[in-house]
Amino acid sequence: MLHKHFELNKIPFTPNPSAFFESETLNIGLVKLQTTIFSPQIALITGKIGSGKTILTTAFMDTLDPTEIKVIMTPVANPSPRSIFKNIATRAGLPPFMYGDDIKLQLINHFEEIRTQGKSVLVVLDECHTFSVDVLDQLKTFFDTKRNFSLILLGQPQITKTLRLTALLPLKQRISVFINTSTLSLKETRDYVDFRLKEAGASTSIFDEKTFPIIHQHSEGVYRMIDQLCFQALTIAYMNKCNIITTQTVESAYKNLDYDF
Ligand SMILES: Nc1ncnc2c1ncn2[C@@H]1O[C@H](COP(=O)(O)OP(=O)(O)OP(=O)(O)O)[C@@H](O)[C@H]1O
Ligand SMILES: [Mg+2]
Repeated sequence: MLHKHFELNKIPFTPNPSAFFESETLNIGLVKLQTTIFSPQIALITGKIGSGKTILTTAFMDTLDPTEIKVIMTPVANPSPRSIFKNIATRAGLPPFMYGDDIKLQLINHFEEIRTQGKSVLVVLDECHTFSVDVLDQLKTFFDTKRNFSLILLGQPQITKTLRLTALLPLKQRISVFINTSTLSLKETRDYVDFRLKEAGASTSIFDEKTFPIIHQHSEGVYRMIDQLCFQALTIAYMNKCNIITTQTVESAYKNLDYDF
């Protein structure tokens, strides 16, 4: 087994880390997101594919007290105007009504009920770059109905282009928190690799120091790319019965990945 070969407790660089690497971006993002707790706001998190948008939101949700905040998170791609609200209602634990307008009202009333119990409501919508202009516009109207919840939108950078459309200017003007999950620096990339290895139980260094600039260059400092490249490098070293990942191993791993970074 790969992890035993490297004297680890589990396979490292898997998509669901058991702890969060505290990059500068993550820490700043967490502070900015806190403002959504205190009053109804709209926040927008953008960033390259695999740059940690969902993990940042998960880390934020982990800090919230469920007795104080009800969080409704829906990862839904390409929703219709009805399906987005139906999805939110289902995630909120409500049996959704038949028509979109009724569902919106049902949700607003439900949020109001929660707020009378002294709790806040936070709706988190992932994959927003796949939302149509109509869906985004309806979200704005929904938010405006009573402004009784906060909304976090997550999406790939092209969402900012969509939000520049005149039709979506009203939504854009309502966004008060902007976060961009920037890529990791060389030092952060090194620290992240160490962090993921320690998380898997490593007590000694497995990657040669000279590999980090190469990992950083090929991955462009994007978390998911770092994970893939490092996992591939570990697999190659394991197959070759090597205990240390060298620059050659990383280069071979890079070539093995079947798409161009
Ligand atoms: N702060 C972090 N700590 C530990 N691992 C992380 C962190 N951020 C990202 N990762 C790793 O990178 C992977 C990709 O992160 P994430 O899914 O959050 O990216 P994303 O920007 O939401 O991607 P997509 O655009 O595909 O939705 C995660 O599965 C996890 O392995
Ligand atoms: Mg994501």
